[in-house]
Amino acid sequence: DSSTHISQLPTEIMLRLFRYLGPEDLCRCSQVCSSWSELAKTGSLWKHLYPVRWARGDYYCGPPGDIDQEPDEEWVKSRQNEGRAYQEWDEDADVDESGEGFHLDGSLAISTVQREKRLLNGMIQNLLPVVGPSVKSIVLAYSSTVSSKMVRQILSLCPNIAHLDLTQTDVTDFAFDSWSSLGGCLSLEHLDLSGCEKITDHTLRKLTVGLGNLTSFHCFDKSSERCRNLRAVRRKQQAIIFKQGTGSWGAACTPTQVWVLDTSDLADIEDAAEWSRRGGMSLPHTESFVETQLVGDTCCCRRSRRRRHRTGSNASYLHQQYAMSGEMYCGHSSCCTSDLALRTFTGPHCESGATRSTAAESRTKCASFGGLQCLETENRTDQSKAKRSLRFLSLSGCYQVTDLGLRALSQLGGLPVLEHLNLSGCLFITEVGLQELVSACPSLNDEHFYYCDNINGPHADTASGCQNLQCGFRACCRSGE
Ligand code: FES
Repeated sequence: DSSTHISQLPTEIMLRLFRYLGPEDLCRCSQVCSSWSELAKTGSLWKHLYPVRWARGDYYCGPPGDIDQEPDEEWVKSRQNEGRAYQEWDEDADVDESGEGFHLDGSLAISTVQREKRLLNGMIQNLLPVVGPSVKSIVLAYSSTVSSKMVRQILSLCPNIAHLDLTQTDVTDFAFDSWSSLGGCLSLEHLDLSGCEKITDHTLRKLTVGLGNLTSFHCFDKSSERCRNLRAVRRKQQAIIFKQGTGSWGAACTPTQVWVLDTSDLADIEDAAEWSRRGGMSLPHTESFVETQLVGDTCCCRRSRRRRHRTGSNASYLHQQYAMSGEMYCGHSSCCTSDLALRTFTGPHCESGATRSTAAESRTKCASFGGLQCLETENRTDQSKAKRSLRFLSLSGCYQVTDLGLRALSQLGGLPVLEHLNLSGCLFITEVGLQELVSACPSLNDEHFYYCDNINGPHADTASGCQNLQCGFRACCRSGE
């Protein structure tokens, strides 16, 4: 007769059938035979991973947009209870987690959390090494077991991730080490670190490097969207420099210009940097950020040799080549705010001299070379990849983040498509830091822009307020009120 055994079906048909299966069934299928096992590890079947939900019997595996909403209070509470129970058990336990004793002793909450941990380990060891490059989303929100090491492994195995949700987990900066290499998260669009209290500026520095460098490409097509975005970022950054009281000169020049300063005029910059270092804004370690840049030096204000060049009696230059990486963290907003300041060339022309003050004119001169460009190419291999496509960033409750972290995000082309930014509960950021970042986010939607109610920052009238006022478990300066 004409019956056909399933093993005779072509691989394409089998794969189509597998697409109807959830993660649990796929795992069962992979135990049937070696060919099914191989087929079940096809990348397109594992684009969206939800291990925390899967460990609790919810096998949703569609794109995260469909469930992109705050979980209900009860769900959050039961995850927190599970986490507490697991932590207490883990501290007291004198049994091998993989042994049978665990199951006998464990309450329902503990065994659920343990299931989650086994699932995560299994994914990292067996699944992601094969399907990692195809993974687009990983949601680990409210996981009690995910560790920084696990996240680091996951991110190393999933270089094309677009959506990462680590809400209310215990991860540290160590988790993002794999982003230290340039282009570590080039496709990232959504990053939720809400409630990750151990996250500091280091992570933001790794993130900004991982997103790629938009300023390292030639923009020959000045009408392209990418070029327009870059120009918008730069215009805003220039406006911010102007506003911050460093003189009106910042607003007048195009990005390819070089500022030339007299010795006496530079002194205030260096003083400010020194003050910044002493005043508690300690210079962060620049290890990962700087090593990926072209000039492997540190702060502009600390480089005496170059300082001599800049402050020579004959008004010497600072070249663009050592503007970016090394001069990011000196703590002075004029030379660190954007990559245009203090890195131009002497010359006769300013784009618009109308707004410049006389004082500013006497201490600075600027030149434009052939009109607006989107910066020189420093690294052509990255120019086609860098998108900086982050649309959603939540650092709600990451109270250790400071202005330096925000500044890092505004570098290398800013965040041209960022629409949602949540900085609620970031207790150490200031209006200045917010201004710098916002100036590099031309697509920011005020409705989705949250920060502390006590800061009179950018878009104060239209931005949303702090989201953590009623939260109870995330940092907020008014939590005791
Ligand atoms: Fe200030 Fe919430 S952090 S109001």
